[in-house]
Amino acid sequence: MYFSRQIIQWYYKNQRKLPWRETHDPYIIWLSEIILQQTRVNQGMPYFYKFVEHYPNIESFASAPEEEILRHWQGLGYYSRARNMLKAAKLIMQEHGGIFPSRYQVLIKLPGIGEYTASAIASFSINEPKAVVDGNVSRVLARHFGIEEPINSTKGKKDFNILAQDVLDKENPGIHNQAMMEFGALQCKPQNPDCETCPLQQSCFAYQNNLVNKLPIKIKAGKSRNRYFNYFVLRKEEKILMQRRQKGDIWEGLFELPLIESTFLLSDEELKLSEEFIKLFGKQAEIIYSSAITKHILSHQNIYARFFEITNIKENVFKNKDWDYVLIKDLDKLAKSKLMFSFMDVYFN
Ligand code: ADE
Repeated sequence: MYFSRQIIQWYYKNQRKLPWRETHDPYIIWLSEIILQQTRVNQGMPYFYKFVEHYPNIESFASAPEEEILRHWQGLGYYSRARNMLKAAKLIMQEHGGIFPSRYQVLIKLPGIGEYTASAIASFSINEPKAVVDGNVSRVLARHFGIEEPINSTKGKKDFNILAQDVLDKENPGIHNQAMMEFGALQCKPQNPDCETCPLQQSCFAYQNNLVNKLPIKIKAGKSRNRYFNYFVLRKEEKILMQRRQKGDIWEGLFELPLIESTFLLSDEELKLSEEFIKLFGKQAEIIYSSAITKHILSHQNIYARFFEITNIKENVFKNKDWDYVLIKDLDKLAKSKLMFSFMDVYFN
């Protein structure tokens, strides 16, 4: 109990006031936790407010069109999370009488809810004694208890879950869990943790053994595939051409600019002389803008993207293509990848 008591005491002194901590409504907690799996607290806040405003309860969420939810999700990336949220919401309306579940065993069966989210919702809403384990929590545990098992190995995940549950304050699991996450985010940070002011310095294995910078241990992910995306802005009056990504690849169903994917990074010249460019736009097409390279990292792929604006393209460029003109002012309405969203946000504003 010593460990948990210290962490909770620290939390009472140092916690940030965050809107999702003011509620026990499992629906609101679910919204916040799924958003926070995608982004940091500061970036997640506007999304949280937007979702609560548009969908104040599970009924409104469940009856929203998928396109609209994806649009609000825009910029967070990993759209399958948003799609799973809608699936879960519909299921809750159909099979749980519209009452958002609070119990771990019920939550864990819903689409998009894994052990982390189920524990978070159950402990924050009804104080069910389930320990949450995320990156922050495993780092704190690895350092304090000197665990050398990698936090992302199968055995490591199991070990950290058991340890987290062991040290959980079973009387105050909600506060304990918030405190662990907050302690990891603010005090026991990944880089430059604030050990000098840490109340757990004396009992911290890593601190006492000079291992703070060695722990936690993480196995490096497998090699990522590199892909090179050349995107084109093709204007006609106030409109540009857009396409929808196909099934079976990243960003399924999302909207983007017309694209030539290449097997390596192409210079402007190489691109203009490439077979695909000439076939699509003609020899006479001219590049009037070319961006720097943006590296966009996904879980198993590195996307190297460049953006071009071209003019003087051949007539009927989009015959037989799944391209459509969209008014620039309507681009906001289309769900796009984070990469596309970030480019357009700057380029067209
Ligand atoms: N990250 C994930 N869940 C969180 C929460 N409830 N509070 C702060 N940061 C979080």
